[in-house]
Amino acid sequence: MKKKTAKNLLRKNFLDKTKILAIETSCDETAIALVEASGGLSAPKFKILENFVASQIKIHRPFGGVVPNLAKREHLKNLPVLLGKIFSKSQIANSKLKNVDLIAVTVGPGLEPALWTGINFAQELHKELINLRTYKLKTKLVGVSHLDGHLYSFLLKTNSYKLKASQIFPAIALIISGGHTILLKMDSLAKYKKLGETVDDAVGEAFDKVARLLDLPYPGGPEIERLALRLPKGEKLIPFPRPMLNQKNYNFSFSGLKTSVLYYLRSKEQETRNKEKADIAASFQAAAFDVLIKKTLRAAEEFGAKSIMVSGGVASNNSLHNYFKSKVKSQKLKVNFFVPSKKFTTDNAAMIAAAAYVNQLRKKKYKLVANGNLGI
Ligand code: KG4
Ligand code: ZN
Repeated sequence: MKKKTAKNLLRKNFLDKTKILAIETSCDETAIALVEASGGLSAPKFKILENFVASQIKIHRPFGGVVPNLAKREHLKNLPVLLGKIFSKSQIANSKLKNVDLIAVTVGPGLEPALWTGINFAQELHKELINLRTYKLKTKLVGVSHLDGHLYSFLLKTNSYKLKASQIFPAIALIISGGHTILLKMDSLAKYKKLGETVDDAVGEAFDKVARLLDLPYPGGPEIERLALRLPKGEKLIPFPRPMLNQKNYNFSFSGLKTSVLYYLRSKEQETRNKEKADIAASFQAAAFDVLIKKTLRAAEEFGAKSIMVSGGVASNNSLHNYFKSKVKSQKLKVNFFVPSKKFTTDNAAMIAAAAYVNQLRKKKYKLVANGNLGI
C-alpha cells in the first residue's frame, strides 16, 4: 500500500480537483478560461467556471485574413481585460486566483508573435501567483498544444463522460480547422496515432479562400454555410472534384477543389456568377464534406471504432453534423458521435484547460516556447 505521506496526500488532492486557468492566443481569438477538472484518464470531468473569448474578426476582416502583428497587438490589449473579467483587481490578493493549481498556455502551433504574448502573460501571472501562495503546493505553469486542445475538446461535452472509456475507444478523431485537417486513431485518451492529414490547404482555409472568391467576408466558413442553406436540398449541385477520395490513404487535399471553384467562376459571366453564388457555396461545401466524411467513416470501419469525434472551427457547421449522422445511419455504423458545442469548436481556452489536465494525467509535457509548427 502507498504510504500516506504528505506529498501523496497533496498529490491525490491535486488530482481530485484541479483548478485550471487557461490562456489561448495562437491565432485571432484571445481566450481565457477557468475550469475545474477532476477524475482520472478513464473518465475526466470538467466544470467550466468561466470562458471568455475576445474575437478579433472585425479587425482582420478588411485584410481578408489574419494579420500576425495586428493579432499580437490585440492579444496584448485583450489579455488583461479578460483576466480582469475573471478576477477583479481588488480580489487578487485573497481571491479565487490564489486557488489556481495550474496555469495552462498554448505554445503552438499558430502564429509565433501571437503565441509569445500568451506565454509571456502566463509567465508573469505565474510569478505573481507564486508570490501569493502561502502553502506548499505550488501553482504549476504548463505549455499546451493547440491541437491537443481541439482533440480533447469532446470531453467538454457532458455526455462524453457518461460513457466509460471502454465504450468510447478505439475512436477516430477528425480535427478540422483553419490551419489543420488531421485524422487520428485513438486507442485511449493517452494513446493516439495520426492516420493522415491534408497535403496542402486545411479545409477551413479552403472555406476562407472560396468565400473570398465569392466576395464573402472573412471568416468564410460560416458565410458559406449560411449561403449553402439557401439551396434546396441537393438541387443544382455542381460536380466539383472530390480530391483523394479514392486513394486508400487517409490524407486530404483541398487546394485543387478551391482552384476548380476559381475556374468555374472564371467560365461564367458576372451576372450568372452572382445568381449562382448559393449553388457554388453548396456544391463546394458538399464536395469538401463528402471527402472528409467518407474517409473518416472508412477509417472507423477499418479500425472498428466505437466513436467518432470531430473538432475545430469547421466542426461548428450544422450541415456537416447532419451529413455525418445520415451517413453513419445509412452505413449502419454503431458509433458514438461527439461534436463539442459551437463555443468549444472554434478557438477557446476551455479546450486548452481540458488538454492541460489530460496531459498532466498522461505525463505529456511541452516546452514553454512558442512553436509555430508544433505537430501532433
Ligand atoms: O479552430 P478555429 O477557430 O481556428 C484554427 O485553429 O484554425 O477554426 C477556424 C476556421 C476558419 O477557417 C473558419 O472559416 C472555419 O473554421 N469555420 C467554419 C465554420 N465556422 C468556422 N467552416 C465551415 N463552417 C462553419 N460554420
Ligand atoms: Zn484552432
